[in-house]
This record gives sequence, C-alpha cells and structure tokens, in this order.
Amino acid sequence: MKIFPISCESLGTRSFAHLVMTRSVNILIDPSVSLGPTRFGLRPLPIEIAASWLSRKIILEFAELVDIIIQSHYHGDHFTLGVERKYEFTNRDVFNSIYSPEVTILAKDPDKFLNYSQQQRAKWLWKNKKLKLSKADNSTYEIGSTKIVFSPPVPHGSEGARGYVLETMIEEDDFQYIYTSDVCGPSSNIATEFIEENSPDLVALDGFPFYLSKIKNEFAKSFEYLGRVVDCAKEVYIDHHFLRSLKWEEVLKENLGKKLKTFSMMRNQEPILLEAQRKIRFDRSPIKEEFYTAFENDKISITFYKELLNRNGYYQYWKKLSSDVKMEIEKKRK
Ligand SMILES: [Fe+2]
Ligand SMILES: [Fe+2]
Repeated sequence: MKIFPISCESLGTRSFAHLVMTRSVNILIDPSVSLGPTRFGLRPLPIEIAASWLSRKIILEFAELVDIIIQSHYHGDHFTLGVERKYEFTNRDVFNSIYSPEVTILAKDPDKFLNYSQQQRAKWLWKNKKLKLSKADNSTYEIGSTKIVFSPPVPHGSEGARGYVLETMIEEDDFQYIYTSDVCGPSSNIATEFIEENSPDLVALDGFPFYLSKIKNEFAKSFEYLGRVVDCAKEVYIDHHFLRSLKWEEVLKENLGKKLKTFSMMRNQEPILLEAQRKIRFDRSPIKEEFYTAFENDKISITFYKELLNRNGYYQYWKKLSSDVKMEIEKKRK
C-alpha cells in the first residue's frame, strides 16, 4: 500500500486530501482543498492561494486515475462544492470532473447523522443519478486484495453539533491504515474505539483544534484519547486542525509528552505552515489591495503561482508527487 498526501495544513492549505494505492485499487480520499478565509483578521496570502491552486490541479489530475473516491463528510475542505469558490479553485466543471460517473463514490450517508448545512451540500452528489454512489456508514467493501472498512458515524468533535464523519480503514496484506477525518483529537470515545479495535499500522489523524477551542475539558479529554490512539497504533501522523497553529509541537510535547510527525513527513517534506504563519508573513511583507482585486477578477496568471511556489521551494513537492504517482501507475499496468 502506498499513501500520497496531496493537500493538508502541513502542505500549506486546509485539507486532508490524499491518494491510497493498493495492488487492486486506487483510492482518492476527501478530494478538496480550501483556505481559512480570515485568520488573524487577514485574508489568505498569495502563497497560500498558490498552494491551493496547485493542490487543486493535482486533485484533478489524480481524480482521473482512481477507481474509488471516499467522502468522509461534506465540509468544503474535504468535499468539492459544485459552485464557484475562488480560494478553492472550484466550480461546477471542477465538481463534475472529480465526481464523475467513472468512479465509485463511497460516501457518508446524507440522510442520517448529518447536520443541516452538510445535508444541503451533500445534495450536490446525491441528486446526480448518473453517479455510482454507495452509503458507506458502518460498511465493509472488498475489492481484490483490498478491504475498506468504514466506522459508524462518529461526531465531528465531542458531540454532533458540527455533524458526523466516517473514519476509514484500508487493509491489504495484514497492513492496516486508518484515516480519521475530522474527529478533532479524537474528541469522542466512539471515534477512539474504532481505531483501537483495528490496532492499525498507520494512522492519519486530524488532532484537536486547540487554536479555536479554549474549552479546557475537551482539550484535556482529547489528549487522553490521543494517548490511547498512540498506544494502539504503530505509527501516528497528526495534521489538519492541529497544524493551524505554530505552537503545535510545543502543545504536543506538553500534553502528550511525545513527538508525532506531520502528514507531509510521510513523504519527507518538512511542514509548510502557511495559514499559521499568515500574520508573520504579512507583517514582513504586506499584500496590497490590488492583488486581491486582480485575484477576484481572475487576473492572476498561473505563471505567477508557479513562480511564487518555486521561489519558496515548494513546487518540488507536488512535481515529485505527480511523477511518483505516474510511475506507480505504470508499474501497476505492467
Ligand atoms: Fe469537517
Ligand atoms: Fe476538515
């Protein structure tokens, strides 16, 4: 099994999109990307927008190579919306290219255990009768050498106010990988139990959104649950909510007493924390209003994004990702 992180906080965006390749199947998980619209009172910086553009490009590229898409829930950083969203580089055509009739989509049940706003978004998928969709909650699928097991709906946090998500376990040759999606820590016993029951080799986990929530009780509880995850899994990668603050390593050390790697480290990339650095970067070199006006009017060229990423040494990650995946596809064809 090979895992290729495409987009996440340690790669400069809000997302958890990745590709999993096994001998029998290629799976694209939560194929979307977004940016924090305002953070520290500031809009996304050009470098964040460039990272979002490139992530979206790779998601579209990989969407053509996969047999299965997994949709853990319907928040915009995981689910591509069928309406125009500039920071997310999406519109109806982008939606149709990703969720095409050629792929099988294993997705969170839109009718049960979902809050109203996510239910409305889920309609984009479920109203389209041409798509091959399956309600994945608490289900198991076997495709050749690969088994995919979904958790029951688990809360997006300590309880279901923000909806529910599905955790996914992918297994091949006794190797088990778990992607938690947005369990916020975990923040619930049920989300932790699914991981414990499977005692996986590898876990990709979103972590507690401590940059937002100051609820002491929930914070302490989430580290108790995280401790249980770390005890039952061979390797844990933390990312997403947890990497939205520059203090992530410090907070981890103080409350877990242990270091964990970021999702980007799965491919030996040191974290590129762009949103967390927004204020520092802005203070160092403020962005003029003209940039945002040009961006809103689609006047920023692709060359601008490419050069910006290149100058900061980030382009290489996605270039290599794309060429490694193509090589892997070639190998599988032989
Ligand atoms: Fe979410
Ligand atoms: Fe998320």
